[in-house]
Amino acid sequence: KKILLIHGPNLNLLGEREPGIYGRDSMASINAEVVDKCQKNGMECVVFQSNSEGAIIDRIHAAREDCDAIILNAGAYTHYSIAIRDAIAAVRLPVVEVHLSNVYAREEFRHVSVIGPVCAGVIAGFGKNSYLLAVDAVKGLLA
Ligand code: DQA
Repeated sequence: KKILLIHGPNLNLLGEREPGIYGRDSMASINAEVVDKCQKNGMECVVFQSNSEGAIIDRIHAAREDCDAIILNAGAYTHYSIAIRDAIAAVRLPVVEVHLSNVYAREEFRHVSVIGPVCAGVIAGFGKNSYLLAVDAVKGLLA
């Protein structure tokens, strides 16, 4: 099985971006751990990052052809991108929504996820472990 890990806007700056909230691990080091955990669980993992809504939508569409499930941290788009929500609904692949921070313990505008209702489930608040837990979630979904 092949997993697509998508990082949305500003997540390319992980490690230097608000480390008190998002931790000191770089996106590259988190990716390496996720890829490694997927491999140990008999799954392949490809990674995509973009700061652009349209590019994220295009990659979700392309996943119809080349992936079995998606782990998605849509960053701030989580809270207002109906277009990403519609892309998830359109492709009918299982998507696990992930956040490093506990969005429900933060500003009120982060309490709403417009993509949550079309995702298989949500993991938030465990730092980089949110991504690693998502690998377990995806494995269960595809079993
Ligand atoms: C985030 C939470 C979002 O509210 C924020 O805009 C991000 C990162 C997280 O991983 O905690 O960019 O998705």
